[in-house]
Amino acid sequence: MSSQHLAAVLPTPGCGKLEVVSRTTPSPGPHDVLIEVKAIAVNPIDLYQRGTADFYVSHSPAVIGSDIAGIVVSRGSAVGDNVPQEGKRVFAFCPTFYTEGLPDSGAFQKIAMVPSSNVGALPSKFSLTEGTLLPMAIGTTFGAWHTLELYRDTMFAPEDKQGMLVWGGASSIGSAAVQMAKLMGFTVYVTASDKHHEYIKTLGASKVFDYHSADVVEHIVQAAKDDSVAINHGYIAVRGVLEQCQAILKRARAPNTLAKLANCSPPRPGPYPTVEGVETRFMHPPEEPDNREKFFASIFNKWLPEKLESGEIVPSPKVTIVEGGLEGLNKALDMLTGASGEKFVVEV
Ligand SMILES: NC(=O)c1ccc[n+]([C@@H]2O[C@H](COP(=O)([O-])OP(=O)(O)OC[C@H]3O[C@@H](n4cnc5c(N)ncnc54)[C@H](OP(=O)(O)O)[C@@H]3O)[C@@H](O)[C@H]2O)c1
Repeated sequence: MSSQHLAAVLPTPGCGKLEVVSRTTPSPGPHDVLIEVKAIAVNPIDLYQRGTADFYVSHSPAVIGSDIAGIVVSRGSAVGDNVPQEGKRVFAFCPTFYTEGLPDSGAFQKIAMVPSSNVGALPSKFSLTEGTLLPMAIGTTFGAWHTLELYRDTMFAPEDKQGMLVWGGASSIGSAAVQMAKLMGFTVYVTASDKHHEYIKTLGASKVFDYHSADVVEHIVQAAKDDSVAINHGYIAVRGVLEQCQAILKRARAPNTLAKLANCSPPRPGPYPTVEGVETRFMHPPEEPDNREKFFASIFNKWLPEKLESGEIVPSPKVTIVEGGLEGLNKALDMLTGASGEKFVVEV
């Protein structure tokens, strides 16, 4: 007899409410890893998928959700040694966006089946709840670097005087971008509410600016000038700030340089208004599936576990636990509107 597990399913695309039901546990395909899910983080994309009929959900019922941490139950026959063995603690990026809610591979359930490229070892110094903060934020930021043609071995020296603008540093993806830009040697200029400034500096920001200030653009441009740094790259983590980011890059880029801006939000691509000297693109990882798989494997199987172990990357921002297990996911999603420097996680 096949086994069953509990899942918070989306009965029909965009219906707005998850329902907890029992469903058949799959057997992993050759390249898959079956994970007993212990914690799930929610993301804005889950909210869009839950409530918007035509937003990347084509299964009824669907299981959505991207960010999990848990224990490896079993591995497919072709899964390599770079992926943790049975019984090990892992984080994983469920590909629900790409599979449009295919039930076996969504995060919102007790057992999820994830491509081995999207699974990584979680060092013991981090809790399983902290592990859920990583996959979407790190994967998205690497997608943005790919869009900006900044590759993994990018490494600027201080004398290169290269700046990165991260607008929305208190967000989940923005706080990952701050850490990753710092690792590449950028001087990182960040916007966030005042209450998050000290924390964001601990993640690697050089200077943090309150985005509520009417003069924020002027302050960032002046800071880069004072530091003799050129801001040729930018990362937009939140909605509605394209014009300000373009204005900063236009003025703070190096002379005769085309500055590049990766927009991660809103979730649908441009077209974007053009600004002299600034190219804006919607963030995207490699589009061809084999290339994307290699891209994610290099991040999740190798780069991220190593950086977590060394302490160069930490889960960010902070965890807020929402009670209720799978039943609590609807509430966790509701709480996303108005989130400030926190990621909502349910333990299952
Ligand atoms: N393209 C993709 O693949 C992809 C992937 C993941 C996320 N996203 C998108 O990226 C966006 C962020 O997602 P997330 O999970 O990181 O969100 P989140 O953590 O929930 O973002 C909340 C934070 O946004 C900040 N914020 C809001 N408005 C701001 C503004 N005008 N300027 C600066 N900061 C502002 C707030 O900062 P304060 O607390 O400082 O006020 C708050 O801390 C969402 O729109 C999401 O859909 C896209």
